[in-house]
Amino acid sequence: MNLELTEEQEMVRNSVREFAENEIAPLAREYDEEEKFPRKQLEGLAELGLLGMIIPEEYGGTGFDSVSYSIALEEIARADASVAVIVGVTNSVCCYPILSFGTEDQKQQFLVPLAKGDELGAFCLSEPHAGSDATNLKTSAVKDGADYIINGTKSWVTNGGEAQTHIVMAVTGDSGGKKEVTAFIVEEDRDGLSVSSVEHKLGQRASKTTELSFEDVRIPEENVLGGIGNGMKVAFNSLDNGRIGIGSLAVGIAQAAFDEAKEYSKDRVAFGRPIAEHQAIQFKLADMATEIEAARLLTLQAASMKDSDHKKTGVYASMAKLYASEMANTVCADAIQIHGGNGYSRHYNVEKYYRDARITTIYEGTSEIQKIVIARGILKN
Ligand code: CAA
Repeated sequence: MNLELTEEQEMVRNSVREFAENEIAPLAREYDEEEKFPRKQLEGLAELGLLGMIIPEEYGGTGFDSVSYSIALEEIARADASVAVIVGVTNSVCCYPILSFGTEDQKQQFLVPLAKGDELGAFCLSEPHAGSDATNLKTSAVKDGADYIINGTKSWVTNGGEAQTHIVMAVTGDSGGKKEVTAFIVEEDRDGLSVSSVEHKLGQRASKTTELSFEDVRIPEENVLGGIGNGMKVAFNSLDNGRIGIGSLAVGIAQAAFDEAKEYSKDRVAFGRPIAEHQAIQFKLADMATEIEAARLLTLQAASMKDSDHKKTGVYASMAKLYASEMANTVCADAIQIHGGNGYSRHYNVEKYYRDARITTIYEGTSEIQKIVIARGILKN
């Protein structure tokens, strides 16, 4: 068993870290406070090929393996989780389903501009009354000649109002009493598609999250992705990939919080010596470092399984997302604790990491949902 990264994967870590430390981290606080969409940072990431990093070069991407993808997202999140979630969503739940389920024409038309970073993608599954219960959709797509007419509301859309291409799950019929769900590729400029509200969030505030309204949005049947009735397969297969991304993002936030807590503990003096020399702080730092490493290894394992097309990838993706996101919440809380009162102030970054970490146990499936996926997977065989 070899746990070493390859030379190429090390290069990815170094080059993304350099860009993230110089071009993303210094702007993170300002963009968070002002809820400003990080266009400039995304342009730089597009130039590095990171908006289509898991897409083969023949479709305009960089052709990274999933391990490199995980490493890159971790490094971006270490600088700013808002930027990381934008990059994660466009890659894993928009580009990736088009690559996996799209026709050659769809790949040329939609995937190439996304993978080149000229465009951004979004994923529209959740609805006001269908979050964890994702198959309980109300958004409908009704056949009208050679078109489909989509009506409904999608919520919690990361990159909503910024994306040019959306993967939209809608009910196209009923099959044996079960909703038949189909995935569609919907362009931003379709008549009837609008942003109905923008969320103002606790954390990851530079990423844009919206509700989208579909009112008689006419879509040609060529935009059906993966065939009629395969919508949940498209959605859950994409989420298997997306959850590796969120696990990596959570590791990145935790690493940032740990790094700052460690440095702070070396500087801050209490009872006549740096607090890092007190065992209470040392034990906390030891626990934090161990938990981060465990989460990173589990996430990289899920990514490596994805690269070898392992049939249990989905279960491991859920384990990685569950463990890393819960860990990030604990580590960020401990980082604040080590900072004492200063940790609660906006003069220090740890309060931002704490806020940014909170959503990781919720989006792309709550911790409770991950446990359902894991339990089903381990009970199957
Ligand atoms: N890959 C491919 N297909 C899959 C699959 C997978 N990993 N998992 C399930 N499917 C298929 C099933 O085979 C089934 O197909 P058939 O109907 O043909 O049999 C279909 O998908 C439905 O699956 P289930 O019957 O297992 O569905 P369920 O109703 O029992 O739900 C669940 C299971 C695990 C609870 C699921 O609903 C779930 O994961 N919920 C959470 C959804 C979620 O993560 N939402 C986040 C949205 S994205 C977001 O957060 C916003 C953003 O922009 C980041």
